[in-house]
Amino acid sequence: MTKKNILSLFTDRYSCRAYDIRPVEKEKLDAVMAAACMAPSACNKQPWRYFVITETKLLDELRQKAFGPPVSNKFVKEAPVLIAVGVKKDLVVHGIVPAIKGIPYQFIDVGISTDHLMLQATELGLATCWLGWFNIKAAEKILKLPSDIKLCGLISLGYPKDEPPQEKQRRPVNDTVRFIT
Ligand SMILES: Cc1cc2nc3c(=O)[nH]c(=O)nc-3n(C[C@H](O)[C@H](O)[C@H](O)COP(=O)(O)O)c2cc1C
Repeated sequence: MTKKNILSLFTDRYSCRAYDIRPVEKEKLDAVMAAACMAPSACNKQPWRYFVITETKLLDELRQKAFGPPVSNKFVKEAPVLIAVGVKKDLVVHGIVPAIKGIPYQFIDVGISTDHLMLQATELGLATCWLGWFNIKAAEKILKLPSDIKLCGLISLGYPKDEPPQEKQRRPVNDTVRFIT
């Protein structure tokens, strides 16, 4: 496979909503998770905690209970991997600094890390979708996460069955970026 440059990774990554059910190779999962763990973080605290789920019984339970009605995201039925994105709540920098500054560093850190994850997956010919719409209480119960971990998202991952969109739906850069000179 030819290596993609960073710009083509940004443009090729898209939220995939149709997956091939075939499993993803463990080496690829390892590479994707290693990329996630390379992200920068406030005071290098690395507050992300990932749970990579490929076990059929657990996947099925999540699909039924965390994505059951009225929550949609039906495409999780085929995704062979779900990654629970957790954040460690009690790291010192995150306990003290936000109280002073009001910035939720731990969630920023996790967001950056998860973007690394999704871009590395794209590079390896995989596709992902960040899933924010799910029954969080049901998912937390099924996953039995330690009490110091807050679940903040699920990522579907697998080989895509659909085509990337022709064009990114984005506001013009000038709408969201201002140069102050
Ligand atoms: C925090 C977050 C939550 C999201 N939740 C969902 C979701 O529950 N279901 C879904 O289909 N897409 C979800 N998305 C994907 C967005 O809809 C998508 O990123 C956006 O429309 C831009 O499209 P693109 O990712 O294909 O570039 C979520 C994305 C983020 C970052």
